[in-house]
Amino acid sequence: MAALLELEGIEKRFGGVHALRGADLRAHAGQVHALLGENGAGKSTLMKIIAGMQRRDGGSMRWQGGTVDFARPKEAHEAGVAMVHQESLLAHHLTVAENLFLGRENLRGPLLDDGGMREAAQRLIEAHKFPLQADWRVERLSPAERQLVEILRALQGQSKLVIFDEPTSSLSDAEAEEVFRIVRQMRERGAAILYITHRLVELAEIADQVTILRDGETVHAGPFAELTTDEIVHHMVGREVEHIYAREPLPPGPELLQVDLPGARFSVRAGEIVGLAGLMGAGRTELCQTLFGVTPAAEGSIEVEGTNVLPRSPREAVEAGIALITEDRQRTGLALDLPLATNMTLARLDGVVRSGLLRFQDERAVANSFIEKLRIRAAGPEQRAGKLSGGNQQKVVIAKWLYREPTVVLFDEPTRGIDVNAKREVFGLMDQMAREGKAILMVSSELPELLQVADRILVMREGRIVKELPRGTTQQEVMHFAALGDGEAIPR
Ligand SMILES: Nc1ncnc2c1ncn2[C@@H]1O[C@H](COP(=O)(O)OP(=O)(O)OP(=O)(O)O)[C@@H](O)[C@H]1O
Ligand SMILES: [Mg+2]
Repeated sequence: MAALLELEGIEKRFGGVHALRGADLRAHAGQVHALLGENGAGKSTLMKIIAGMQRRDGGSMRWQGGTVDFARPKEAHEAGVAMVHQESLLAHHLTVAENLFLGRENLRGPLLDDGGMREAAQRLIEAHKFPLQADWRVERLSPAERQLVEILRALQGQSKLVIFDEPTSSLSDAEAEEVFRIVRQMRERGAAILYITHRLVELAEIADQVTILRDGETVHAGPFAELTTDEIVHHMVGREVEHIYAREPLPPGPELLQVDLPGARFSVRAGEIVGLAGLMGAGRTELCQTLFGVTPAAEGSIEVEGTNVLPRSPREAVEAGIALITEDRQRTGLALDLPLATNMTLARLDGVVRSGLLRFQDERAVANSFIEKLRIRAAGPEQRAGKLSGGNQQKVVIAKWLYREPTVVLFDEPTRGIDVNAKREVFGLMDQMAREGKAILMVSSELPELLQVADRILVMREGRIVKELPRGTTQQEVMHFAALGDGEAIPR
């Protein structure tokens, strides 16, 4: 069968960064094609070339048999290419409905009136049971909600090729299932799907073919079913890696964080990593934001090392020794226009300022050590954060807070979009922080990962902590309490 899309020997440079060096890819109608590779391997860049958002420097691109060169997103879109982006490209000041129809009004004949647009959007949202409202403003949405809007946008029209760049990294299991259903439906109507993910387990649900990139080059292509997870990881990384992380528990130290809020009474000891589990909307992120002073608590107490600090702003939280590493790196994590080095040292300038002067060598040295420790793929410490691949941006956020050396560290979905190998590095760093005597609270929607890392797990449901489970608990048990709360019989 002739390929719908054929890329051969694609080259792309960004200044000194050789992002793609001979990438090949063939996608067929009616198939789901997984695109895998480590952070910075060039996946998003390759997809942006297909979608007309970046121009290639070399190589050939054939679409339905003929050579093409999509110079602008509009050209790719008109040819039948749709893309769900890794980083939200929505217009933040507009509503969900307005975003869904932005630039697409002509797809539906005459311009839609606001009311009609809102209704059409609301119907689409309800058809997929997404927790959104058509008139919500995008700037107020969580990363997961923005992701759902991106997905709905790509659903419109009858695209021949749909690109999903990490669509599920911030979604709940139920929403991810809905995404798989959408993908299968697209495949059935004969579309080709290109699917990027770092959650290898989800590929078993949907992938027909797989292409693996390493350092901008295609190192493997073939049927998905022929590969084991170990083989995939091996192709991605170029050597053997152990992708199960096992943490040695430490003897617990003194209580560093003591929380007494309505619905949430718990403490975290020095050397401990406590996991916070729950379904999306259970209140895990909200709890982290209260602890970090983003949404200050009206009553109750939050103690760090025995002193009530109840932060009224992130600034107060930082001063009290609390750090929040968030999943939302675009909005709260990074200054995208500033160099990596500056981003990393921003939260603790006294480390690199001597007698009022910023010491660039110190800043560079700090940055270089984190670039090495976290294996950040960047041109150097001067590269702007916004130019890094998604996973590498997340590593910069982590570095920034590690450098600050807080007492209490809140990780909210820290490994979102991070590849298998880098996950181990991040877990290793969390473990190291615990060994240095810090208290760590970690939110993750990926239960297996939470079970590997956490010393105990607090389960939240409807804004309250309903259960504490010890190390060694199971996924089923956590899910049971997350879904039903405590005190109800386990359904058979
Ligand atoms: N606009 C840009 N300017 C400079 N460098 C860039 C730009 N876009 C991407 N890069 C670099 O190109 C390389 C590939 O990035 P890309 O975003 O394609 O990676 P990726 O495979 O999608 O990674 P991830 O899994 O982290 O999303 C990285 O080194 C990145 O820093
Ligand atoms: Mg990417």
